[in-house]
This record gives sequence, C-alpha cells and structure tokens, in this order.
Amino acid sequence: MVIPISKPSIGKEEIDAVVSVLRSGNLVQGEKVREFEIDFSRYVGAKFGVAVSSGTAALQIGLQALGLKKGDEVITTPFSFASTANAVLHCEAKPVFADIDPRTFNIDPVKIKECLTERTKAVICVHLYGQPCEMDQIVKTCRYAGAELIEDAAQAVGAEYKGKKVGGFSRLSAFSFYATKNITTGEGGMILTGSEELAEKASIMRNQGQSRPYRHEIISYNFRMTDMQASIGIEQLKKVEALNSKRIENAGFLTDSLSGLEGIQIPFVQKGVKHVFHQYTIKVEKNRDRLLEYLNHHGIGAKVYYPEPIYRQPPYERMGFRKGCCPLAEEASEKVLSLPVHPLLTEKDLDKIVKIVRDGLSSA
Ligand SMILES: Cc1ncc(COP(=O)(O)O)c(C=O)c1O
Repeated sequence: MVIPISKPSIGKEEIDAVVSVLRSGNLVQGEKVREFEIDFSRYVGAKFGVAVSSGTAALQIGLQALGLKKGDEVITTPFSFASTANAVLHCEAKPVFADIDPRTFNIDPVKIKECLTERTKAVICVHLYGQPCEMDQIVKTCRYAGAELIEDAAQAVGAEYKGKKVGGFSRLSAFSFYATKNITTGEGGMILTGSEELAEKASIMRNQGQSRPYRHEIISYNFRMTDMQASIGIEQLKKVEALNSKRIENAGFLTDSLSGLEGIQIPFVQKGVKHVFHQYTIKVEKNRDRLLEYLNHHGIGAKVYYPEPIYRQPPYERMGFRKGCCPLAEEASEKVLSLPVHPLLTEKDLDKIVKIVRDGLSSA
C-alpha cells in the first residue's frame, strides 16, 4: 500500500451536508454558497468573499476585477503552480518573474524591487507550501511602487504572518479548495476582498457577467460554485484548525526525525509565521530523482512541486523566457522533494516515511 502525498479528510458531516443539499433541490448559487462565503471571509478576517469554481477561476477573475490589462506588468514568482502566472496572461498582461528565497522557496522581496518598472501594475505573491511570504517587505514595496498586491493563498488556508491570517494583507486574495488542499470542496475557490466594489465585480464575472438575470454587463464566464461544494466547505472549515494542527504535528515529527541527516535539508520555517504545511518539502543536495524513485518504489508517495519554473513551460518559452531567468528557482526545482504530511497519516506511516528516507539516502 502506497502512503499517498495527500488524502482529503472527509467525514460523515460532509457526506450528510451534501445529501441534505441534494434533497433540498437548491443545487447552485443558493444559501449554502452564501453561508460558505460569510464563514470563510470571517475566518480569514476579510469583509467579502466570492466563491468560485476553482482557485484558477479566483485568480483569473480577481485580476480582471482589478482591471489588469494589456501592457501592464505583473511581478510574480516563477516557483508555483502554473495557474498563478497564467492568470496574468489571461488578462493579456505581462508576467515578470522575480527569483525566490532559496530557504523558504517564496518570492524574494528584494528581487521584487529589482523587477519594478513604470509599467508595474501588480505583484502576486504565493504563500508556497503553506508558508507565508515576507509580507512586511512586500506590502511596503507595493505601497512604494503604487502596485496592487494580490495574494495567491491557494496552499495556505489558516497560515499566519505575525499573528494575522494570510489572504488579509492585500486588497484581493485567492484561495483554492482543490482535493489536495488543506481544506477541500473537491474543486472550488474563493476570492476575498475588503472592497465592496471588487466583490460586486467578481460576483458578476463568475456568473456570465450578469448583474441581474439575463442582463449581461460584460462577456464573462461560468465560474460558479455549487451548493454541494459549498456545503462540504462549511463542514471542512469547522475542522480547519484541527486539520492544520495535525499537519504541523506531523511536520514536527518529520523534522525531529530527519534533521541532521547528510544530503538533505529539512524545511526552513521563517520566524513569526504559522506555516500550515500544505507540503513538507525537503531539499535533496544530490540525485533527487534517484531518492524520489526509491521512495515511490518503497511505497512512499513523495512528489516534486514543481519540476520546472513556470517560465520553462512551452507557452512561456514561446514568449521568449529562457533558462537562467531565475537561477534560484531553477536550482530549487532540481532539489525539492515533498513527503506526505497530511492529517490522515498514522504513527506507523510516519515511522515508515522516516525509515525509507533514511534507507534511500544511505543507498544513494
Ligand atoms: C499556488 C496555487 N495557485 C493556484 C492554484 C489553482 O487552484 P485550482 O487547482 O483550484 O484551480 C493552485 C492549485 O494547485 C496552487 O497551488
């Protein structure tokens, strides 16, 4: 039996909630979606929430609601899921990649500064693997440059920077509730904002541009969340603190057991943050892929997030991006390896992960 890299924690509460929505007959854009928006925005500490069909949809209409357009430059990290930068391209704006801090794998605030031009309209920071970015410096830089800040908090529900939840540092933030995330609705996402105007725009955009039934103010999409998804989200949110605590506890065990081993570096946790360990990601100094193969062969579902910086993907190469753009992100993509850390791991699973990593390192 393989120990998977992720496993959703779905209980009777979620199953009962979905069944009750199905029995109610109100399947889309009903009470449950509204309730989830209110619960989730309250949890993070934002005024408004707009539930959508995915984290990708949240980023895409979030950036469009902010008015990003052709010719605008948007500084972001190359070391994320492609959907972060793809959202910039969907607005026909230009992504500008700032290299990462090799300890946290998050965008480096100093590199953001170096990328600023008079065309910079926004910065998207990603709280990668569940660890908050350096928000003090990033917020300050954006203010100085007059650039809009967007947080991609897809991987960081419940993470905190200096006691404040991520997603609350920017005028607009995006979350994902994909099946692997710290809380899930299967597929799903949320935009959070303090601006009523942005919330209104985003909620029109998710629903074919309709300001009222059959009045289409703009050409837009169907990015609606269903009430089945929202009802799962409401139940998941009640468990979020317990689920994150279990991840943090599992990460603590892995760190205690793996620190000091030659050839790997355990995750670095920045002072003053609550890292919620969406992923537990080590750095393997040499032969990462050999260790990955060894782990997979011996039943550990380890994975690499991400094997290439975003700009090495074909559409970005066709735009002219080349190897060497962000050397630290390139190095990270050759060395990172994520081990299972999800809340459903047993003590036996954790012992097995540690043993196989040790064996793999000594056989390499
Ligand atoms: C950092 C980041 N941004 C955006 C997304 C997109 O979210 P979704 O898969 O819900 O569209 C993901 C999902 O994996 C992600 O990890």
